[in-house]
Amino acid sequence: MNLKKMVGYKATEFVKDGMIVGLGTGSTAYYMVEAIGKRVKEEGLSIVGVTTSHRTTDQARELGIPLKDIDEVDHIDVTIDGADEISDDFQGIKGGGAAHLFEKMVANLSEEIIWIVDDSKMASKLGAFPLPVEVVKFGCGQVLKRLKKENLNPEFRLNDDGSKLETDSGNYIIDLHLGTIEDPHKLASFLDSVTGVVEHGLFLDTVTKVIIGREDGLEVID
Ligand code: 5RP
Repeated sequence: MNLKKMVGYKATEFVKDGMIVGLGTGSTAYYMVEAIGKRVKEEGLSIVGVTTSHRTTDQARELGIPLKDIDEVDHIDVTIDGADEISDDFQGIKGGGAAHLFEKMVANLSEEIIWIVDDSKMASKLGAFPLPVEVVKFGCGQVLKRLKKENLNPEFRLNDDGSKLETDSGNYIIDLHLGTIEDPHKLASFLDSVTGVVEHGLFLDTVTKVIIGREDGLEVID
């Protein structure tokens, strides 16, 4: 059973005619976009999508989903996105696909935020998944040093050829290998204060609904 597909398709039940919909990024969000594309084509569902990455833009365009740029909307009704890790208290890590900057900007405009995950993403505490931090290229080595000084175990994310991975905005990603994050709010405040950090992957106090796919069925938590 493809759990990612199950949760992706389930999430589109919360999408109604006339909505502005934030379209997430990743292998789970892929199925949600596919399902919305089907509904647009087969049922004449009338929505406008706001995408969170070039990948999702390409997929949505191919499927004929009408799109607007984030600057052309004043709100988003619902955003549906994947997540890399969700704690017991529904805080999240995102950015495994290096898209968390756009994802957070879209989430910040959204009245409802739905995360779609298979149950492997659920954890008691955050931190087993390396925390992505997007940094500007200029002085990125200094930012790495600063994060090392705080014992945050930072590493540049690399492509297969060893070059630094670039985000859709042309920045780099530093992953923090933390094991456990005892105080996500404190860490988020620290990262927000580091000059050269564009955005980190801690999504705190934002999600309104989580759809979890398990081998024995789906769970929807509000
Ligand atoms: C991309 C993201 C994704 O939502 C997250 O990485 C989950 O991806 P997947 O569904 O492929 O596991 O934050 O930056």
